[in-house]
Amino acid sequence: CSLSRVMTSSIDTTFDLKAYLRDRQQRVEAALDASLQGQYPETIYQAMRYSLLAGGKRLRPILCLATCDLIGGTARMAMPTACALEMIHTMSLIHDDLPAMDNDDYRRGQLTNHKVYGEDVAILAGDALLTYAFEWVATQTQNVPADRILQVIADLGKAVGAEGLVGGQIVDLASEGSPDVSLETLNYIHTHKTGALLRVSVTSGAILAGADDSQVETLAQYADRIGLAFQIVDDILDITATSEALGKSAGKDLAAQKATYPSLWGLEESQKQAQQLVEAAKTSLADCFGTPAQPLIALADFIVNRTH
Ligand code: IPE
Ligand code: IPE
Ligand code: MG
Ligand code: MG
Ligand code: MG
Repeated sequence: CSLSRVMTSSIDTTFDLKAYLRDRQQRVEAALDASLQGQYPETIYQAMRYSLLAGGKRLRPILCLATCDLIGGTARMAMPTACALEMIHTMSLIHDDLPAMDNDDYRRGQLTNHKVYGEDVAILAGDALLTYAFEWVATQTQNVPADRILQVIADLGKAVGAEGLVGGQIVDLASEGSPDVSLETLNYIHTHKTGALLRVSVTSGAILAGADDSQVETLAQYADRIGLAFQIVDDILDITATSEALGKSAGKDLAAQKATYPSLWGLEESQKQAQQLVEAAKTSLADCFGTPAQPLIALADFIVNRTH
């Protein structure tokens, strides 16, 4: 960011993140519910709604709405993309839980999609959510110039495909059971399987609102830091939290010999790294945007302090 307007120390820290999250989660829930009203074939819509409307933190849509707001856009401009991000994320969870991948029985406090509907339907529900996400952005985004919408669609595609989430998942699976995964490989896994979607969650809201290149770059840097911290914390919680708190089976990473930060560095150092990443993310944002960046700064703290 070329403008260094405010220092972190001068940011008002009285921001009520709880109330903010509650409000944004409610709005996102309502928009997601409204987005998925198909009836036939019944099984596929049931399976899609089962996972999409099962709760979850809704972090990706909330980040998208927050950056759109920061740059001066309205919630309506970003809501279709916010929903699409959650559809894509939900697809990634349904597929991640399949027996061919992490083989998990619980997600978001309920049985995984394939446990209820079978693997065939779960694969198709993921496919349908993924493709619907792109359709939803293209057909529902209003009051935004077409070139910005096109940019968001291109960025979304890149974030989910072989250069993004899929690439990360492939290396994650290939590294299972190998005790000597390098830090470089581990970083690749984290920044791709989780970081890429979080990055586009942050940048898409800003792009829709008309952010300039330097603003998008500052936000992308923030996103990369919180993205890596997010997966480090996910790996820590897999060891330290209970299945009840997580709404998904804890302790699976060790059992599957997954490549994680705690496995490489231990819990304490991993926690320290996550904290440092989040501090750096907060500082650069505060320096560039000042007080209006409060929600994003509080969201960064939430990522390291969360318990599920
Ligand atoms: C879980 O994501 C999968 C990872 C990328 C680590 P979240 O922790 O955001 O899951 P929900 O959406 O809140 O269920
Ligand atoms: C998930 O990583 C990444 C994606 C779903 C793309 P994990 O496999 O660690 O996520 P959880 O722990 O099952 O939620
Ligand atoms: Mg996985
Ligand atoms: Mg998993
Ligand atoms: Mg995990």
